[in-house]
Amino acid sequence: GHGHGHGPFIAAIDQGTTSSRCIVFDKDGRIVSVDQKEHEQIFPKPGWVEHDASEIWTNVQQVVAGAVEKAGITAADVKAIGITNQRETTVLWDKNTGEPVYNAIVWQDTRTDALCKELGRNVGQDRFRRETGLPLASYFSGPKVRWLLDNVEGLRERAERGDILFGTMDSWVIWNLTGGVNGGHHVTDVTNASRTMLMNLHKLEWDERILDSMAIPAALLPEIKSSAEVYGLTAAGALAGVPVASALGDQQAALFGQTCFDQGEAKSTYGTGTFMLMNTGHEPVNSYNGLLTTVGYRIGDQTPVYALEGSIAVTGSLVQWMRDQMGLINSAAEIETLASTVDDNGGAYFVPAFSGLFAPYWRSDARGVIAGLTRYVTKAHIARAVLEATAWQTREITDAMTKDSGVELTALKVDGGMTSNNLLMQTISDFLDAPVVRPMVAETTCLGAAYAAGLAVGFWSSTDELRANWRRAAEWTPRMDADTRDREYKSWLKAVERSMGWID
Ligand code: G3P
Repeated sequence: GHGHGHGPFIAAIDQGTTSSRCIVFDKDGRIVSVDQKEHEQIFPKPGWVEHDASEIWTNVQQVVAGAVEKAGITAADVKAIGITNQRETTVLWDKNTGEPVYNAIVWQDTRTDALCKELGRNVGQDRFRRETGLPLASYFSGPKVRWLLDNVEGLRERAERGDILFGTMDSWVIWNLTGGVNGGHHVTDVTNASRTMLMNLHKLEWDERILDSMAIPAALLPEIKSSAEVYGLTAAGALAGVPVASALGDQQAALFGQTCFDQGEAKSTYGTGTFMLMNTGHEPVNSYNGLLTTVGYRIGDQTPVYALEGSIAVTGSLVQWMRDQMGLINSAAEIETLASTVDDNGGAYFVPAFSGLFAPYWRSDARGVIAGLTRYVTKAHIARAVLEATAWQTREITDAMTKDSGVELTALKVDGGMTSNNLLMQTISDFLDAPVVRPMVAETTCLGAAYAAGLAVGFWSSTDELRANWRRAAEWTPRMDADTRDREYKSWLKAVERSMGWID
């Protein structure tokens, strides 16, 4: 259980896709307290996903106060706050009032499909890949900013006058934490900036040519900082006066929390989506197999570390959809119970291309399909197909990772909420034909943000000290025979084929 360890402590805020949480850690990287609050998922039209950024900021303040109270500590016991966040989600706000001009457009949102196609016309999807490491896709922030400028009345004029600020959720939280309209710092870190499609990966600066092509005024943009340095002091609330000392996109934070500090080390995080990142060292590595090139982290003025990433849009959110929209289960945990009542998928395959397909396909025109149905199939088989979808998509990105990096996978380090699902972890191990291992602290996202903040203020002295905290808690090893695996993989790939080309 959680106790009141001996201080001092580091706090981490994780502004995620479905909830915001704050965790207080002690010097050994152990959890002292957690507070968490969900926010509303707004689906105004098919393919659109929004969040209310004001609601999120209110929740962040509440979970910070909640975690501090549960730990039984005060601001004086906390040496630094680290920030981590859902990436790409885009908010524009008025710097004079602090009010968002529109709901935040979430990373899963596909409204910029047509815009992305237009931007790639005659040149192709890889138009900005050399500069940004990313293919043109509705996933990234730049086109979302452009959509807002084109569709919110009067916004472009206000933006050109310098009244409007853009941020991913790290910027929004840090600006508010450090004072908001009263002197808040408008910053982002290199990892979050690397997901906007507006930053040059090599120079780690905003790319003027891309800003021009997307018609985005530079006046909107935050200053790009490292992932571990003091951005400013918390202005008010339960942690008033505490330095805000790190920011990393949640997947990069998990890479850091899993202590993947060496080239070739990788992790996969199972949340609303699933994201596998491999540390590729100090040089960005181009992908020829549908992965993204992204910034892993940068500690202060040290050389940046890059990563290859395999992104899967829909994994945990498919389980939520089964619960909230289909009503086939009452809790997320029930998916495992239901799936365990049958031995296999009964011939059914579920491709959850709700936001198009991400890695390795990058097909915005794909939509979800359930293939292979017969009168035999029950909801238990569908539950099984739901879990297998996550496992097959993991297989697809690990295959791409092996091809791009030349590093053979010996074991997969996993973390995130879905890793409590044993059947899923076993299925992943079966489909990869490799062991799957989970560390003691499964909250690696918050842990990574805490580690980076702690390094920035000298709470921890080095990454070696952090590595010593990593301990294996669970391991799954493959049990499936090769014939079954190969046959099933073929059927999965056929179902994937069926999901493509649904939208013109
Ligand atoms: O790129 C999106 C990713 O950062 C979202 O992560 O954990 O909120 O699903 P999560």
